[in-house]
Amino acid sequence: MRSDPVQPERLAGTGPVQPEAGAVAPAMSGAYISVREVSKVYGRGRDRVEAVHRASFDVPKGQFVAILGPSGCGKSTLLMMCAGLEHVSSGRIAIGPRTVDGPSRDIGIMFQDPTLLPWKTALQNVLFPIHIMGLRKAEHAERAGDLLRLVGLAGFEDKKPHQLSGGMRQRVAICRALISDPDILLMDEPFSALDAISRDEMNVLLLDIWQRYSKTGLFVTHSIREAVLLADRVLVMRRRPAAVVEDIMIPFERPRRPELGDTREFVELCAMLRRHIESQT
Ligand SMILES: Nc1ncnc2c1ncn2[C@@H]1O[C@H](COP(=O)(O)OP(=O)(O)O)[C@@H](O)[C@H]1O
Ligand SMILES: [Mg+2]
Repeated sequence: MRSDPVQPERLAGTGPVQPEAGAVAPAMSGAYISVREVSKVYGRGRDRVEAVHRASFDVPKGQFVAILGPSGCGKSTLLMMCAGLEHVSSGRIAIGPRTVDGPSRDIGIMFQDPTLLPWKTALQNVLFPIHIMGLRKAEHAERAGDLLRLVGLAGFEDKKPHQLSGGMRQRVAICRALISDPDILLMDEPFSALDAISRDEMNVLLLDIWQRYSKTGLFVTHSIREAVLLADRVLVMRRRPAAVVEDIMIPFERPRRPELGDTREFVELCAMLRRHIESQT
């Protein structure tokens, strides 16, 4: 992992930031998600693609990490391996002491497509994982209702997906990801398909959820702005070889509000990240 190009002093004295503003993330102790020398190869011979090349990073409990990088650099593959939905070709991913070797109920997942069941209501979609896990729905129905209220969908519990807007469907998907109260939330460009206003609203909602539930998160996005607003730390990936090349702390204190995005220090940090990404990818 490169460590030379980030210049913390360029952000010194820029307001509500801690001393290590923009600094390269230090080696973390107490890793909760541990990714060690992980590679992933798809196909063979002429079809061989190395989707991820020796990725290594640790995520401590409660940290929100954004992953930025161009299309095809292996972001989704990395997330799927953390979720236990793809095998690693080499290396090791662990959650706490446990090597990831399959899906776990400790992990909630969100994709760009909300993947709701069209014949089920919002409430039934939120409760669907409970059904799959063989848990008692009655015990989770109240939590499902609370989550739907939290995301602003009170009164929409009985609506089917086609009766909801894109932003509302993604809100249902967040509730579904949270219904089993997982420790970890993995999100693969969850807001990329939304219009700009809905996306801003979802960012505010996610900030609020983070404040309330203190999950550990990996969040793939193409948006530098979204990454800096939401995350405690940003990993930058590049193609050929598909590797993690930057690991940068985002020092803004929480709770954060979207107005943070209008501040000079925020804009400067985004610009610095953009320069790093352009020089890497
Ligand atoms: N199931 C698969 N089979 C073969 N190749 C794949 C598969 N999934 C992804 N790839 C390839 O792996 C690389 C990384 O893909 P992906 O993880 O989807 O990248 P990203 O999410 O960053 O756009 C790409 O070259 C893609 O074509
Ligand atoms: Mg992807």
